[in-house]
Amino acid sequence: MNNVTIVGAGTMGHSLAQVFAQGGYQVFLNDISQDILIRAKSLIEANLETLAEVGLFDSKDHSAVVEERIIYTTDLADAVASSELVIEAIVESPDTKKELFFELDRLSPPEAILASNTSYLNIYEFVETRRPGKVIITHWFAPPHIVPLVEIVPGPHTTPETVETDNGYATPEDIDRATKASFGLRMPILGLVKRVDFAGLDLTQHILSNKSYAPPTVKGRSDVIDSMVSKGRLGVKTGKGFYDYGDSPIEDILRERDLKLLKLKEFLSDMGEMD
Ligand SMILES: NC(=O)c1ccc[n+]([C@@H]2O[C@H](COP(=O)([O-])OP(=O)(O)OC[C@H]3O[C@@H](n4cnc5c(N)ncnc54)[C@H](O)[C@@H]3O)[C@@H](O)[C@H]2O)c1
Repeated sequence: MNNVTIVGAGTMGHSLAQVFAQGGYQVFLNDISQDILIRAKSLIEANLETLAEVGLFDSKDHSAVVEERIIYTTDLADAVASSELVIEAIVESPDTKKELFFELDRLSPPEAILASNTSYLNIYEFVETRRPGKVIITHWFAPPHIVPLVEIVPGPHTTPETVETDNGYATPEDIDRATKASFGLRMPILGLVKRVDFAGLDLTQHILSNKSYAPPTVKGRSDVIDSMVSKGRLGVKTGKGFYDYGDSPIEDILRERDLKLLKLKEFLSDMGEMD
């Protein structure tokens, strides 16, 4: 894959373009607003400066990323003409996304994957294309240039090739790695309320109005938990739970956790996040 298009250059789109440009891809960043594209470029520049400040980006690559590898355009046809992957990060509205996917299907190369960064919408219910096997949800966590997790949500017709890997169920380690690398990373800095400010209150309004989402029914029990409890796998206190803690005394296991928590607390306190 060489060329990637990001449609929508707002809160998520500018950062997504940056991630792919930093990864060496040729990126086409599209928005309906020229002003948003100008702001996106300036935000990417600021993001790169922040990364450089903490040693995660080499400033000599600045213009290659910002000027050469990202083409900023309001012309959707130009933006998608040669892309193998198109990710939309536009407003969280079913009608607008449906309309956009229709255009993406019409304008993109037939082999291109069409992905949505939607937070809550079941796009598979309303998106119609001639390539259902190549339509997929790839949900990035904000800000994508720092939070290293993407949720891949295939639809009923998405092919395994599009998903790339079909790992089956996630292991306990996978789930912990994913949560620590996403909202876990953000939570100590933003909390629950400030996160909404960073995500955008208009997005939250769209999310709340999404009637197609229904939380899973509460069963009051779990087969997995019942089976583990019946085997005496109660967690750290019995040396085994989802993880196996070996023969280490419980004091050592708690000490390891507590030292890490204390270190984190001190670090957050130094940053003024524990006041
Ligand atoms: N904000 C977050 O924290 C966050 C996190 C994960 C996923 N998302 C999802 O990402 C998507 C974008 O969210 P956002 O917060 O970046 O939105 P945003 O409002 O900041 O940006 C959306 C951009 O899309 C542009 N746009 C609208 N219609 C367009 C069209 N037809 N063609 C091209 N550009 C168009 C707008 O001009 C705007 O610049 C949503 O689906 C949202 O659910 C957002």
